[in-house]
Amino acid sequence: MAIIGIGTDIVAVSRIARMLEEKREDFVARVYTQREVKYCEAQARPNLHFAARFAAKEALMKALGTGWAEGVGFNQIGVANRDDGGPEYELSGRALELLEGENASRVWLSLSHTDDFAVATAVIETAMEGKRSTRTRKLPGSTRVHSQR
Ligand SMILES: CC(C)(COP(=O)(O)OP(=O)(O)OC[C@H]1O[C@@H](n2cnc3c(N)ncnc32)[C@H](O)[C@@H]1OP(=O)(O)O)[C@@H](O)C(=O)NCCC(=O)NCCS
Repeated sequence: MAIIGIGTDIVAVSRIARMLEEKREDFVARVYTQREVKYCEAQARPNLHFAARFAAKEALMKALGTGWAEGVGFNQIGVANRDDGGPEYELSGRALELLEGENASRVWLSLSHTDDFAVATAVIETAMEGKRSTRTRKLPGSTRVHSQR
């Protein structure tokens, strides 16, 4: 086992609240999965959870060392909550392809939020020894394939 990527992101809750207020429909459709929307809207303070998920998406882009340039869309990086409340990534499209290309075997995620800020940390793990490789394999463990639409 080896860690091949780590990323952290911090997001001002007010920034996400503003986006949701000004262009909710477009913003939500472009950035979040349906599962995320359902989860966030069911919470007492949805904006905190929307902000944490935005941070989770950027944290994984950092861990991957990529972003828009590589064709990774925000809504390809979703967050699902396990029965114990803990978060895990649900990936699809280019984001999933890139991780498979890195021989990632598992992706870890941790979230936290206060009234004002949300933070996320992502860690990419490979079962293989050594550095990133170009060989591909399926992702078992906590990262699950999410088929969109
Ligand atoms: C996880 C825990 C530490 C969260 O702490 P907190 O200070 O209230 O909240 P934070 O803002 O720091 O973190 C919230 C995030 O923690 C994450 N989280 C929740 N439960 C978690 C768990 N069991 N493991 C890892 N992460 C967890 C979630 O991602 C949550 O954000 P989300 O709802 O937007 O997905 C706290 O809920 C806890 O101790 N839970 C585990 C034990 C438990 O369930 N106790 C209750 C029964 S006695």
